[in-house]
Amino acid sequence: MKVEDYDFSKFKNSTKAKQALVRLLQNAHAGEKAAANAYWGHARSLFIWNKEERKQIIKIYEDELHHRRRLFDFLQSLDSKPRLIREIGMWCVGASIAILSIIGTWFIPMYGAGQLESTNIGEYEVAARLALLAGREELIEELLVFAEVEWDHEDFFRKKVEDHWVTRYYPLWNKPARRDSIRSLFNSFQADTKQ
Ligand SMILES: [Fe+2]
Ligand SMILES: [Fe+2]
Repeated sequence: MKVEDYDFSKFKNSTKAKQALVRLLQNAHAGEKAAANAYWGHARSLFIWNKEERKQIIKIYEDELHHRRRLFDFLQSLDSKPRLIREIGMWCVGASIAILSIIGTWFIPMYGAGQLESTNIGEYEVAARLALLAGREELIEELLVFAEVEWDHEDFFRKKVEDHWVTRYYPLWNKPARRDSIRSLFNSFQADTKQ
């Protein structure tokens, strides 16, 4: 998801913004489980020899579980809860990726993780704007922090694969905007909304 492609004009009404926020947080809650499952497998990959690298992936796994716990709290505060069907589906997606990560190459799970993380940044940037439009300002700061953490995850995987020989033939995904643009673009959006 890219924040610049999202049409916020449909959500001037706070009820509609809240509905869109709930749906997005439900998707993110399930997506975090898929990511956590995938990293659980990735940390056990047969192709990771470097202990430090393994530790860093476990740290990312823990970040995703933390996001998931907080998303559950956010959904409760919005009188909602995760969607069971989505949860089951994404759990299976994550478990499948975990198996592929354990037995796959070093490169493919690293590349796939980076590409996935690049979409997670935008997801939380959109969520922070929807929280603003829904009048739920108390959620904004943490959602922006989540976007920044996803930016750090993307940066970690990008740095892992960018010099790999495969990228000469299979280019990297698009580089996200600078980390500090997460805050500056949100502040501009907030200022425009108040006008
Ligand atoms: Fe996350
Ligand atoms: Fe992440």
